Amino acid sequence: MATIARAFAAVDLDVSVYGGATRDQQLTNAATCFAALRTRLLTAVTAPNAGNVLRLAFHDCGTYDINNPAAGGGCRGAIRLALGPEDAGLDLSRNLLTGPTGTAGVCGAAKATIPACANMPFADCISFAGLIAVAVTRGTTAAGCPWVPGRVDSAGPRNTALLPPKEATAAQSLAIFGRYGMPVGAVGLTLDRAVTLLLGAHSIGRSRTTRPDRCSKGISSLTSTPNTFENSYYSGLINNIGRVNVPNGGWFCSDMHLVCNAITYPTPRPGAAVTLRQGFCPTSDSPLAPIARELAANNAAFLSGFCSAYQAMSLIGYNVPPSYVADAARFATLLAPAPARGL
Ligand code: HEM
Repeated sequence: MATIARAFAAVDLDVSVYGGATRDQQLTNAATCFAALRTRLLTAVTAPNAGNVLRLAFHDCGTYDINNPAAGGGCRGAIRLALGPEDAGLDLSRNLLTGPTGTAGVCGAAKATIPACANMPFADCISFAGLIAVAVTRGTTAAGCPWVPGRVDSAGPRNTALLPPKEATAAQSLAIFGRYGMPVGAVGLTLDRAVTLLLGAHSIGRSRTTRPDRCSKGISSLTSTPNTFENSYYSGLINNIGRVNVPNGGWFCSDMHLVCNAITYPTPRPGAAVTLRQGFCPTSDSPLAPIARELAANNAAFLSGFCSAYQAMSLIGYNVPPSYVADAARFATLLAPAPARGL
């Protein structure tokens, strides 16, 4: 894995905030911080909130546009200070991790009481917690998942309009995630594969606020196993082909579009609403369907691939340092699967 030259200006990661005279000492101090933080997060991240914590990490990062880097955004911790309309339901994990003021919660308490975490950016805490949510739902591999600290907090601006809508087709999802400028090549992925893997996050968690309509099955668990991070998300999508009224396997249009380009609906009675439950996915003709089929057949490929895709997502808005691979390996085992309360 080589240094990745980014075409657009992004921010450099900064580990000096963890203290230490040399970069090696700074990374060692950071590892001390995250080992202690991990213990606290394993108590705080439970069945009812793991999905929400993972979604919070995505919504902090998915706010950057490589064509307009001066506008800010990316994994900068700004979600702690203000939630936009696209963040509905995320007050649960925002309050858990940073408190309603954006200065408290598990992250704020860690900064106040774990000396090695005194200057930890909230952005690092949120990003790390997202992978802990995957680890406690058994979604990381036995070796864990590489990850680096060094994000830089900002108070905004954070453009939540850059987050994907549930109506997104495969082409639209590719365009939206492409605009984030994720360093997919640095983690051995293509954009197509990274997007297909990242949408697999809907393997866990719930739709808490999104009501049933043409692109949503409503308020419920996103799969039949919402506490287990696994590839049944993709097999559910594949099983939906040619069937109607299937309870799981593609909660939103954006999920179903991983296998079908067009969803067809019955003609509604005048005044009646049509829901996704009545939607029909006739063919497996999405450009991303071959990847979804492969992941449906191979859970190990999903878990290791998601670890890579999350790394790319966690670097939105940042330059990839030349030492990325060695640095990230130092944190991997902290993110090995671990049981959490209530799971
Ligand atoms: C096209 C891309 C995506 C769309 C349209 C989308 C949309 C949504 C919507 C509408 C919800 C339900 C929100 C609610 O009502 O509570 C949701 C939940 C969720 N999303 Fe996504 N999402 C996308 C990508 C992602 C990615 C990349 C991740 C993480 C890597 C993610 C993680 C989650 C999780 C874990 C939940 C469950 C949250 C909970 O349990 O509270 N999503 N998503």
